[in-house]
Amino acid sequence: MRVSVPATIANFGPGFDVFGLCLEKPRDFIRVKLSDEIEVKVEGYKVPEEPDKNVASVSALSLLRQAGVESGFKMKIKKGIRPKSGLGSSGASALGGALAVARLLDIDDKEIILRAALEGEKVASGSPHGDNIVPALFGGFVVLKSLFPLEVFKIDAKLKLVVILPEVEVSTKRAREVLPKHVPLSDAVRNLALASSLVLALENGDIEEVGKLLDDYLAMPYRKPLIPWFDKIRKAALENGAYGVSISGSGPAVFALGENLDEIGRAIVGAFEEERINAEYFISKVG
Ligand code: HSE
Repeated sequence: MRVSVPATIANFGPGFDVFGLCLEKPRDFIRVKLSDEIEVKVEGYKVPEEPDKNVASVSALSLLRQAGVESGFKMKIKKGIRPKSGLGSSGASALGGALAVARLLDIDDKEIILRAALEGEKVASGSPHGDNIVPALFGGFVVLKSLFPLEVFKIDAKLKLVVILPEVEVSTKRAREVLPKHVPLSDAVRNLALASSLVLALENGDIEEVGKLLDDYLAMPYRKPLIPWFDKIRKAALENGAYGVSISGSGPAVFALGENLDEIGRAIVGAFEEERINAEYFISKVG
């Protein structure tokens, strides 16, 4: 059984742990067949091949356990999403492992698949959050109302965006550790206003307005020390015609909306270079 799972943009501005956008590319490809042993082989970006450290294999094992099937597997992973990039790389592999085994066993209960995928995601990020896995599973723009029971609102958003991948790493574990347990009420209110307006703007297909609603007061202020370059990158993007720009997930990937996405991508890559950080950009539709 072969599945492919795409990259995702979690948070999408003000939707910390709630919003997620599925991209068309890049993707991970995972091939699984049942076997007596457990074997994991990885091509492309480097991730662990030890079955208890590889997120896809942890998810696959979890799904087999949930289904009460005693079996091992041979798994081949073609890792196309850079790990620790902020593009849901671990979420995609985790979902891929669970999904491939679910397909083999003819299971399509999304909640079972999700539960298994979250086991894998936990290995990578320390805490199971669904805003990468769920949009990769459903496609489009997703509002994750609840993980268990799984309740999701989906908008078939039609937009293109530019994603910029700098050659720096931000650990999701660390990016979650720096978050406070409580936030000021005024910040919560500002986020609520942004998030609800953003959903309406997306529904209306008003991408310029969506771009103007990408701020966040729940996570970004506390993550600034981990992404000291962000303000300069944002300035460069806005000066070059971006409607708005934000961090993808916990970073370091950055995404921007606008008309001339190539120009914005080049400007952001240039701004990273001024910070002595190599970066590349690509343009993707919603997946
Ligand atoms: N919502 C998560 C976070 C996404 O911002 O920590 C991380 O991939």
